[in-house]
Amino acid sequence: MYRKIIKRRTVRKYKQRDVSKEILVKCVDAARMSPSGANLQPLKYVIIDEEELLKKVFTTLRWAGYLPNYQPSIEEMPRAYIVILLDQKVANSCGHDAGIAAMSISMVAYDEGLGSCILGAIEREQLGKILNIPEKLKIVLVIALGYPAEEPVPDKMKNGDQKYWLDEKRILHVPKKKFENIVNWNVFSP
Ligand SMILES: Cc1cc2nc3c(=O)[nH]c(=O)nc-3n(C[C@H](O)[C@H](O)[C@H](O)COP(=O)(O)O)c2cc1C
Repeated sequence: MYRKIIKRRTVRKYKQRDVSKEILVKCVDAARMSPSGANLQPLKYVIIDEEELLKKVFTTLRWAGYLPNYQPSIEEMPRAYIVILLDQKVANSCGHDAGIAAMSISMVAYDEGLGSCILGAIEREQLGKILNIPEKLKIVLVIALGYPAEEPVPDKMKNGDQKYWLDEKRILHVPKKKFENIVNWNVFSP
């Protein structure tokens, strides 16, 4: 599991190959069984895999904010989405539940050979209308899924700059902070 977590990178460009319903069910089932604050389980999910809806949902998402010229094209769009919703009848906020569920989905997807991107930059009103989401349900995150058509690589963070960047071969580099710069043993050392 450690190796897989270290290896997983966000994928924003996908092969136009369908994702099976079986894998999508597994992803949401993993989210269902994930930890939940006070075990309230306030999250609901929409799984999207129909062609027309895939195209419509695609228009509501904003990709790679640091690199405006690195948007997936329609020929590279995700082949499935899982939308995470908060049921406001159950809880006013979902605390950390949605992030944990999103990671569960991403890791099951990775295990099945899929790439994924967790998205928070969503045109929520537009997406709500497309998916017919009732008022009491709030769109929290969207997970885009598909077989990867890119292979981003982790990189050492230089000069405190967290922005991912493209090399001359258009490979995406994702800066990560050094272990020793973020970890303290036992007591905090300034
Ligand atoms: C809560 C959350 C929201 C995110 N929202 C977006 C988004 O709206 N669009 C996007 O392209 N990537 C989004 N990402 C992906 C991050 O940009 C990505 O995780 C980060 O650059 C680190 O790359 P890595 O996942 O490959 O380690 C989001 C990630 C998280 C955890």
